[in-house]
Amino acid sequence: MAKKIGIIGAGGMLQYHAAGFKAAGAELHAICDMNQEAAHEAAKVYGAPNVFADSQKMLEELKDLDAVSIITPNRTHRPLALQALQAGKHVFCEKPPALNAAEVKQMKEAAENAGKTLMFNFNNRARPESYALRKYIDAGEVGAINSAQAKWIRRTGIPGFGGWFTNKELSGGGPLIDLLHMVDLALYYMDYPVPSCVLAQTFDDFIQDKNFKGPWGIPDVADGVTDVESAAHGFVRFQTGQVLNFQVSWAEMNKREEVSVTFQGRKAGGMIRRLFGSDGLDETAIDDCELYVQEHGRSVNRSIVTEPNEDMGRIRSAENFVRSINGEEDPLNTPDQALALMKIIDATYESAKTGRPVDIA
Ligand SMILES: NC(=O)c1ccc[n+]([C@@H]2O[C@H](COP(=O)([O-])OP(=O)(O)OC[C@H]3O[C@@H](n4cnc5c(N)ncnc54)[C@H](O)[C@@H]3O)[C@@H](O)[C@H]2O)c1
Repeated sequence: MAKKIGIIGAGGMLQYHAAGFKAAGAELHAICDMNQEAAHEAAKVYGAPNVFADSQKMLEELKDLDAVSIITPNRTHRPLALQALQAGKHVFCEKPPALNAAEVKQMKEAAENAGKTLMFNFNNRARPESYALRKYIDAGEVGAINSAQAKWIRRTGIPGFGGWFTNKELSGGGPLIDLLHMVDLALYYMDYPVPSCVLAQTFDDFIQDKNFKGPWGIPDVADGVTDVESAAHGFVRFQTGQVLNFQVSWAEMNKREEVSVTFQGRKAGGMIRRLFGSDGLDETAIDDCELYVQEHGRSVNRSIVTEPNEDMGRIRSAENFVRSINGEEDPLNTPDQALALMKIIDATYESAKTGRPVDIA
């Protein structure tokens, strides 16, 4: 029978969740948004038969919901996930998993207690390039990955000033937490080794500067708070001896927006990269997916050709959630991985604050 899904949050990301759930044969059974107008509008667009302003009411009234999708600002991820898991629903939650590792631990335990699936929208794992690279890794053609470099760097990408994105209490942080995808992807390729130590620095030079506002995001809030970083740089060591360095920014004077993971394996190196155009995704954007090997005395660069995927795996990722709860596919991510990722993020902020390397327990 088609799985019945209740959506919480009818903002910009809903379109991708809706398309992915539909592709997997699920039914959008309800839309809940505290903004009633947005909820009704979305219910009309997606043909959802039930509309709510309050998620608790939705869970009480719709006992037949199988799963809940959480597409709301970061601070609400933990309470809404706990509410849905405690009501016995599977949960698909937008990234970041929550504000910090302690919150993710609570969510993971709630999923275990409920015996329900908890997944997060690390959608870059669902890009065609990621599936392709994973095949080479799983086939043993890359070998153990010693080291990786993860980047999501923007030149003028601050998503509004004073709204929830730039308010640490509501978002958990700036680009480090917002653009965590490439760090996650690098860890995914490295088979999620256990992190042992982080040395990092954050910068906030441009976070109040309107010249660095991005073409996306949410409206400015005149008397709102803007207290997050504009860039973060860090180095992570894992218990295995593997290492990762990362660079994430909303505002740094780089030539163009780059979203990439590069890795060095014992048998092959590789890279997945999108270079955006001058104003976000336009016809000058360039996607690359490559493997680097030594063969017959020569350096050989293999270019892996995949179908174009503008949405960066967002639809496929939502589809994977439904197929996972249907038992048709393995989940693309687990709560343990989300917890490890959030420990790295916590340690990054701690290292930036103390100026010291931070051990991860
Ligand atoms: N995976 C990605 O590529 C990607 C891209 C953009 C945003 N996101 C994530 O998606 C989440 C939402 O971002 P957005 O840009 O859609 O935000 P948004 O502000 O456009 O939409 C959020 C909606 O949630 C509603 N809402 C907030 N709290 C609620 C509650 N307690 N109950 C019911 N409704 C509530 C708001 O009224 C709003 O309509 C964020 O966590 C963000 O990090 C992910």
